[in-house]
Amino acid sequence: MGLDNMSNDNPLVIRLTELEAEALAAVAEAGDSEALERVRVTYLGRKDGRISAILRQLGEIDPSDRRAVGAEANRVKETLTGALEVRSAQVSQETDFDVEAADLTMPGRETWAGGAHPVNQVVDEIWQIFRGMGFTRARGPEADTEWYNFEALNTPLDHPAADEQDTLYLKDSVLLRSHTSPVQIRTMEKHDPPIRILAPGMVYRRDTYDATHTPAFAQIEGLVVDEGITFVDFKATLAEFARRFWGADTKIRLRPSFFPFTEPSAEVDVKRLITLKDGSRVESDWIEIMGAGMVDPAVLENVGYDSERYTGFAFGMGPARMALLKYGVPDLRLFFENDIRFLGQFARGVGS
Ligand code: DAH
Repeated sequence: MGLDNMSNDNPLVIRLTELEAEALAAVAEAGDSEALERVRVTYLGRKDGRISAILRQLGEIDPSDRRAVGAEANRVKETLTGALEVRSAQVSQETDFDVEAADLTMPGRETWAGGAHPVNQVVDEIWQIFRGMGFTRARGPEADTEWYNFEALNTPLDHPAADEQDTLYLKDSVLLRSHTSPVQIRTMEKHDPPIRILAPGMVYRRDTYDATHTPAFAQIEGLVVDEGITFVDFKATLAEFARRFWGADTKIRLRPSFFPFTEPSAEVDVKRLITLKDGSRVESDWIEIMGAGMVDPAVLENVGYDSERYTGFAFGMGPARMALLKYGVPDLRLFFENDIRFLGQFARGVGS
């Protein structure tokens, strides 16, 4: 049996171990700083502290036991001091919350859940309308080639629309698409008629940022190709869309225009019935909402369709404009700033 073990049998060492357990339990139970102070005084108080008393008696102890008892007394003292500090920190944190002053009937804070960007919501509304008319959803890459973005769409590279000044090139003939029209080509390459697609997505232009321009914005492309599609189908589909989107009193008009990929081409304007603050209803001005036209036979030939057999129409619109016209946003500038930040998600988030 070693010296240490013999010392542990000493009644004072046993007493110290008991005191340690007792004191630690009292520390754990103490609910505030006053209770903790009472524990400290009871065990470590200089005058009457139970552990201090044992340390004071060391001189009267048999010298062979003195070291072991002294060491044990100091260990217990340190352990207890540490426990008092830890508990004291806990207690002061717990009592930081002033129960008396707090209004416990106050409703909790709501978690911020986020929501869909207004333009994405409108893209969805538009999609629901075209879906009801038998369209499916299509998508294409945001980084595309000169062939898809321009040439296949009957736009020669020396056409002003293909000007390097207006287009963001990545490398060689790869660029950020300047419109969603390349999805027309990609869809027709993969599928035979009948085609009826809606393709929302982001487009990019080297535009200087201002209240009505942004280098990144959303477009929605539409394409219908089949046997016997006529200008009547074209106008009727867009007029029906406008009525379902803004209401039965909405009118559209087609203004002659030019796009290399449509012949004839048109700008589509709408006139809406708007409700004023006093409840009266007035007609809005005409405002352009999209470019459109009958698909140029050259485009159909580029994807290997027989342009004698098939005809079609196409359109491209800006959902941000549509969102503004339908729901109104007081500060245009703010609106477009948010547009850039949040629109990226829908180009990635939608699929056919
Ligand atoms: N791609 C055109 C633009 O970005 C918009 C457009 C016009 C799309 C006519 C079409 C169309 O499909 O037929 O300005």
